[in-house]
Amino acid sequence: MDTRMQSTLARLHQAANREILTIAKGLAKGIFRPLQPEDMKDAYIAMSREQGEVMVRLIQENHCTNIVEFGTSFGISTLYLAAGAKETGGKVITTELLPEKCAVAQKNFEEAGAADIIDLREGDAMQTLRDCPADIDFLVLDGWNDLYLPLLKMLEPKFKKGCIVITDNTNFPSAKPFLNYIRNHPNYTSEQLPTDKGGTEKSVWLGNRTL
Ligand SMILES: C[S@@+](CC[C@H](N)C(=O)[O-])C[C@H]1O[C@@H](n2cnc3c(N)ncnc32)[C@H](O)[C@@H]1O
Repeated sequence: MDTRMQSTLARLHQAANREILTIAKGLAKGIFRPLQPEDMKDAYIAMSREQGEVMVRLIQENHCTNIVEFGTSFGISTLYLAAGAKETGGKVITTELLPEKCAVAQKNFEEAGAADIIDLREGDAMQTLRDCPADIDFLVLDGWNDLYLPLLKMLEPKFKKGCIVITDNTNFPSAKPFLNYIRNHPNYTSEQLPTDKGGTEKSVWLGNRTL
């Protein structure tokens, strides 16, 4: 990882580590109704450094070049994906619903010297990822969990054989339908990775074995 990328990530992780109060305030809004992305508009709710480094390693070892992400927030996980993509000559498509978060993420990508390989798409992932190019070989799911399964099914026809799917926050009950599907479907192998944050699922698309 080059020094620009390293120093941007260090700054962002530092800020993310100080946001306990911001997250608590956001979560409080979801006590009497389902939590909305807007409730977390100021929060990173980001992947950890360890999760990021695992993704970089997987991208490099498997020579992944067509990387797609659901859930940009301020761009911490996206920068790890870009660090991996820089090594393989790949590119990253990422998507975020909230315009304010997109604006900050784009600045972070520029600061890290990675904006040229990141295509940040503002809007609802079910729309913005609909026209992703085929041959996706690395997918990250880290947005609202109820969209994990519909998004996976929407993107499946575009997976390259061996496509790796990394999914965060699978310990939440709302991720259960996704886990039931991906762990029991003959087209995937799937297991939880032992990362510091917990709830990180790694799945591999084996090709369409049900045809
Ligand atoms: C857990 S955060 C992502 C953290 C980011 N991956 C990181 O590690 O830095 C989830 C993000 O998904 C966004 N989101 C929620 N629903 C979405 C949707 N339907 N389409 C696009 N983004 C969405 C939220 O606004 C939030 O910023």
